Amino acid sequence: MAGPVPELEDRAAACAERLHEADRVLLASHIDADGLTSAAVASSALERASVPFEVVFEKQLDEDAIARIARTDYETVWFTDFGSGQLDIITDYAADGGFTPVIADHHQPADADTEFHCNPLLEGLDGASELSGAGTAYLLARELAGYGPTESAGANERKSGPNPPTDPTMTDGGTVATTTRADNRDLAALAVVGAVGDMQASGGELHGANAEIVADGVEAGVLEPTTDLALYGTQTRPLPKLLEYATDVRIPGISNDQRGAMRFLDGLDLELRDDAGEWRRWGYLTADEQQTVASALVKHAISRGVPAGKIDGLVGTSYQLTAETTGTELRDASEFSTLLNATARYDRADVGLAVCLGDRGGALERARELLRSHRRNLSEGIDLVTTEGVTNEGHVQWFHAGDRIRETIVGIVAGMALGNEGIDRDRPIFAFAEKSDEPDAVKVSGRGTHTLVRQGLDLSVVLGEAARHVGGDGGGHDVAAGATVPAGREPDFLQRADELVGEQLGQ
Ligand code: C5P
Ligand code: C5P
Ligand code: C5P
Ligand code: ZN
Repeated sequence: MAGPVPELEDRAAACAERLHEADRVLLASHIDADGLTSAAVASSALERASVPFEVVFEKQLDEDAIARIARTDYETVWFTDFGSGQLDIITDYAADGGFTPVIADHHQPADADTEFHCNPLLEGLDGASELSGAGTAYLLARELAGYGPTESAGANERKSGPNPPTDPTMTDGGTVATTTRADNRDLAALAVVGAVGDMQASGGELHGANAEIVADGVEAGVLEPTTDLALYGTQTRPLPKLLEYATDVRIPGISNDQRGAMRFLDGLDLELRDDAGEWRRWGYLTADEQQTVASALVKHAISRGVPAGKIDGLVGTSYQLTAETTGTELRDASEFSTLLNATARYDRADVGLAVCLGDRGGALERARELLRSHRRNLSEGIDLVTTEGVTNEGHVQWFHAGDRIRETIVGIVAGMALGNEGIDRDRPIFAFAEKSDEPDAVKVSGRGTHTLVRQGLDLSVVLGEAARHVGGDGGGHDVAAGATVPAGREPDFLQRADELVGEQLGQ
């Protein structure tokens, strides 16, 4: 079966064959939107192939987590959205503990080798912009589909055939054709949510292998890319809020200006309120209405002196999940991914996974509650950074949140703050936060820009090396990486990181 990403087909096929041979599989994944969607893609594929499995989530795949996994009596462990960076430790434990690792990841691999390893970076593809963890898991899922359900389905107590409560395709419409289920192409929708959640889109859209997966999803009838306002909240935010909160491209008279946003909308010759007088939402407008609002917005931005280069950033591709109801967080890949982060980054990966697998009842309600508090935390975190400011070193800028921002979201806050008043995009940002469960350790997240990466920045190297220099460890991607360092060693870490960034940028 021809997969959507030929470069990785052999690796994906070898992994799938090994998984299919397993009596049962322990599936281990990462606690963010990409990790959750990876786990959802992987569990759906295993379920459909009638391979029994269990899922565990880890905040970080450190030695403790690997040791815990090794102590289980699973002979096959499928790692998704992590594993490559810890390959050296995994292979040590696998040899001792008698398990076979199967890895579907997109992080910078450690210096070790293993038989069943699928990672875009091993074949010259970019793991930060061309393929996510969920995309990699999807490639294995496509190969797994080639086997069909195992003949010995009785051995694993699993029903074959549709299983409504946990079936990702049985959403409101429940209309996905069985052929696309048979080849697992319907799972492309979740893979795209993972890629968008890892911020792999650039210049407004997904590229490379991610774009191939989008094409799969379009063919399968589960995805619809549309040209849209590149603003967060097109499905769930009332129009004035959508515009008011649009701060990535700052539009004078509209951004951060509720009355200005309403005045702008009222000035258009459109019915933008419903019968009850409530503001409508972007996702419900007709294509013509959307076109009118978008052109007026661009015109307004030009008249207020927003430069042409920035105006391009107002429009981009959004990825709609066609089986989901319009106006819900699940309809739009970007809103879906934020909903998932709101669960997994707060120790409720189970809730996010259930939503991915089709629970539109209790789990979705719980996820929405978690989203409200996630939003509050993000906005308080950004306020904190913006009011207290960052410290500029030669080549980097940083802030220390102490216990005021949760370590699992400090990287998201840093990324969102980059470009705000006083936080230039001309150098990477490092954000420290205390780890609640490890008083002697501090979490650090690094975020850069694609422009800096083109100039040579590789934060996975910087965070890895600077952390090891002070007795910690880290890794990730060129544009976004993280590490754990011993508490108190932040200054030495920063000094080394600053040197490394200076070298990479040739300064
Ligand atoms: O573990 P993982 O790959 O999932 O995490 C990726 C992280 O990197 C996400 O939290 C995402 O927000 C961040 N990222 C970013 N900017 C990019 C690419 C990724 O901030 N251009
Ligand atoms: O939380 P997550 O990393 O998925 O957020 C991805 C992006 O969504 C952020 O960088 C931000 O642009 C947007 N976002 C937002 N308002 C929120 C949550 C997310 O604008 N409340
Ligand atoms: O936690 P944060 O969002 O800053 O993570 C950014 C990226 O760095 C993620 O891809 C994450 O998996 C990676 N990371 C890592 N090792 C760590 C911490 C984060 O590889 N110790
Ligand atoms: Zn990822």
